[in-house]
Amino acid sequence: MLSINLKGKKAFVAGVADDQGYGWAIAKALYEAGADVYLGTWTPLYKIFLHSWEMGKFDESRKLSDGRLFQFAKVFPLDASFETPEDVPDEIKENKRYKEMGQYTISEMVELFKKEVGELDILIHSLANGPEVHKPLLETSRKGYLAAISASSYSFVSLVQHFGPIMPAGSAALSLSYLAGARTVPGYGGGMSSAKAALESDTRTLAWEAGRKWGIRINALSCGPLRSRAAKAIGFIDHMIRYSIANSPLQKDLEAREIGAVAAFLCSSLASSITGSVLYNDNGLNTMGTSVDSPTLQ
Ligand SMILES: NC(=O)c1ccc[n+]([C@@H]2O[C@H](COP(=O)([O-])OP(=O)(O)OC[C@H]3O[C@@H](n4cnc5c(N)ncnc54)[C@H](O)[C@@H]3O)[C@@H](O)[C@H]2O)c1
Repeated sequence: MLSINLKGKKAFVAGVADDQGYGWAIAKALYEAGADVYLGTWTPLYKIFLHSWEMGKFDESRKLSDGRLFQFAKVFPLDASFETPEDVPDEIKENKRYKEMGQYTISEMVELFKKEVGELDILIHSLANGPEVHKPLLETSRKGYLAAISASSYSFVSLVQHFGPIMPAGSAALSLSYLAGARTVPGYGGGMSSAKAALESDTRTLAWEAGRKWGIRINALSCGPLRSRAAKAIGFIDHMIRYSIANSPLQKDLEAREIGAVAAFLCSSLASSITGSVLYNDNGLNTMGTSVDSPTLQ
């Protein structure tokens, strides 16, 4: 029988701080397929995440389709906006939630991973941050734009750079994109659309470079709207979900587990010849050229 078998594989999922987002669903799918799953949680949320886990807050959503409970191997604090401790501005270093946490920049975290775990087979980038996401691009500052690119796109380049040397040939890295990187989605501002466009372009270039250098596959999944913590912060996620159901070829909710399953496939040997691809996983919304619920069409 053809099935996704990740037994013996080690996966690192960057961008899990609760049980609501795509990162969580992907981590669960990888675990269910047999992988040991390591998580990277944004430094200021690290303690809160572990506390919530220990209090049983995620117990219901830890359930897998076979009845077992999802279990991580270890959680690493991570701020993917910084490569080295020298890059971290003093006000962040001194922040209470950072001060008590050691080794959270990308180079330090990967070094720690290398020492404690060894090699990595699957790298998932499920994080984004745009401090000015509420502002139209026309009103976005240089600082806000660069912060969005730094946290949401360069972080993937940097993770691949640092993890690449410990990823054996045949390993896979995957990032999550959004339609706004390829088409105009009003409201997805602050340079976040630019960040997703960069992420998709980098997918192709990194696939070439990391493919030739290490034999690693690099892909992106462009996902439809999900009511995650990050998406709720943007402010119009419920409208986007309603719009998607009204206008997509498949008139149904998009469930995070559907993204988890495709991510597990893309990172498995079943997808051994797929690299440099941006695959849409959005009930088909991206294929539409008109909004069928537009009043002007009535
Ligand atoms: N929710 C959607 O509708 C949607 C649609 C398409 C693509 N995506 C993408 O999916 C990915 C996951 O987002 P999500 O919507 O599931 O929300 P989420 O809130 O579950 O995930 C975003 C994560 O990024 C983390 N993060 C932010 N800045 C960070 C930093 N500097 N270092 C480390 N971690 C940091 C947050 O703590 C959070 O855990 C993102 O790339 C997002 O753009 C989401």
